[in-house]
Amino acid sequence: MTEPEQAVPGVDATRPSPARLYDYYLGGTHNLPVDREFGDRLKAAVPDLEDGIWANRAFHQRAANWMAAEAGIRQFIDIGSGLPTQDNTHQAVQEIAPSARVVYVDNDPMVAAYAAQLLAADGTTAVITMDLRDPDAVLGHPDLRAMIDFAEPVGLLMTAVMHFVADGSDPWGLVRRYVDATAAGSYLALSHFTADRLPPTQVQAGQAVYDRATENIHPRSRAEIARFFDGLELVPAQQGAEPDVTYAGMWRAENPETADSDGARGLYCGVARRP
Ligand SMILES: C[S@@+](CC[C@H](N)C(=O)[O-])C[C@H]1O[C@@H](n2cnc3c(N)ncnc32)[C@H](O)[C@@H]1O
Repeated sequence: MTEPEQAVPGVDATRPSPARLYDYYLGGTHNLPVDREFGDRLKAAVPDLEDGIWANRAFHQRAANWMAAEAGIRQFIDIGSGLPTQDNTHQAVQEIAPSARVVYVDNDPMVAAYAAQLLAADGTTAVITMDLRDPDAVLGHPDLRAMIDFAEPVGLLMTAVMHFVADGSDPWGLVRRYVDATAAGSYLALSHFTADRLPPTQVQAGQAVYDRATENIHPRSRAEIARFFDGLELVPAQQGAEPDVTYAGMWRAENPETADSDGARGLYCGVARRP
């Protein structure tokens, strides 16, 4: 039986993609048989996978919400935004500030196909289909320039995306390029897959799936992930804590004890201010 998604221009229905796999792990419907096949393989090999994915998504929402509520940010660029899901970034921040603006950036054609579900009726959102590895093109895109005032602070969200960028593309330099484009008082929220606590068999299973996907995956150590925040002022993950990176489940968790799980330790994260 032919699924409607197979007709989406640019979508390679023979290979899983990070956006479609993530949608499948989150229980979404914008995925193909190939994503479900490879997704099931990974779920079988990594029992804490879905726990980790949900911890990451919850971090994304808490960080966006925090930037709007505590830092007064009113414009956001969500890079590697993923497919539309239940609580998209504009919904999370517009709970706090109804006129907040969000530009979604993703290079997966499936995201472009379902972009309408990310477009707020009042024109406060835009979706651009671009590769983050071309920051000049992303930052110069007319739809982004129409929505974002670079003289004012910006909330940059780069969650669970930089592990799809190989060292050879200089992921640290790319993040720096985006941060440098923003005004003082802007914030970066970033999360990143780590293999620090995973058994090697589970890491190999993950890499085997993403080797067959449209993008490979590159787990990094705590020190490598902390480097993304060099030159920025990290926000303490809990009030009174030292400013540092932490596990995705722990950042501003309502209940840090229940939030701390093996899955939630699959990604490091941080939120930091540009001085
Ligand atoms: C795991 S999802 C994360 C979605 C969302 N940021 C979150 O944390 O819930 C990663 C997303 O990054 C996108 N992505 C991967 N490499 C990218 C690139 N080079 N440029 C733009 N988007 C990219 C994928 O298409 C996918 O939608």
